[in-house]
Amino acid sequence: MTHPHEPDPDRHAAGPGAATGHFIALEGGDGAGKSTQAALLGDWLESLGRTVLLTHEPGGTPVGQAIRQVLLHGEHVTPRAEALLFAADRGHHVETVIRPALARGVVVVTDRYMDSSIAYQGAGRDLAAEDVEHLSRWATQELLPDLTVVLDVSPDVGRARRGQVHDRLESEPDDFHAAVRRRFLDLAAREPARYLAVDAGRPADDIQLDIRRRVTALLDQGALS
Ligand SMILES: Nc1ncnc2c1ncn2[C@@H]1O[C@H](COP(=O)(O)OP(=O)(O)O)[C@@H](O)[C@H]1O
Ligand SMILES: [Mg+2]
Repeated sequence: MTHPHEPDPDRHAAGPGAATGHFIALEGGDGAGKSTQAALLGDWLESLGRTVLLTHEPGGTPVGQAIRQVLLHGEHVTPRAEALLFAADRGHHVETVIRPALARGVVVVTDRYMDSSIAYQGAGRDLAAEDVEHLSRWATQELLPDLTVVLDVSPDVGRARRGQVHDRLESEPDDFHAAVRRRFLDLAAREPARYLAVDAGRPADDIQLDIRRRVTALLDQGALS
């Protein structure tokens, strides 16, 4: 029995391997600054003496790379097949990379996780968001991040930042990106204890300070256990 205000040492343990590390996901549209913030966060965590794993979806494993190729650069994939492929990539990533790292006490920072599926496949396509969420929870054996950072930018800013269109999802029109953005913000609002939504239209260093403040609180919690 765990006191509600104390961190649960088995919080990642629904699947194979109990974990002592921390799991942080960065979410947001293309061009929101996920890769930029992940790199800054990783450097800072290492400077604190933490062991960090920076990873990403889709394609965080060799199997995932093949899936990513099909998803982003191949022929049209039907919405259900697309949702299954993203979930397959995620399930494999969690079981072979993320859970083992958490079990070693590593801070895992992933550039995209299940909220990207919920937002993109659930909002922009013809699937129910609840179905997409259920699929990812099944695929990951319910591994949820300790903290999900939603980097929020307008479609205009996202488009300007990503410059040349380079994959199938990035080439969707702005109303698609607006729907995805709303979904990310709704997910963050649903569970403020596990989310940080930040205005990512600001300079990268300012955004990073907000993220570090919240991650500091997360690591301090871990230190109490
Ligand atoms: N806060 C920011 N302000 C201005 N430009 C940014 C900011 N964050 C990232 N960029 C630039 O925008 C582009 C997209 O950033 P990136 O981190 O690759 O976004 P994502 O990984 O979310 O697609 C890059 O050229 C990056 O240097
Ligand atoms: Mg990126």
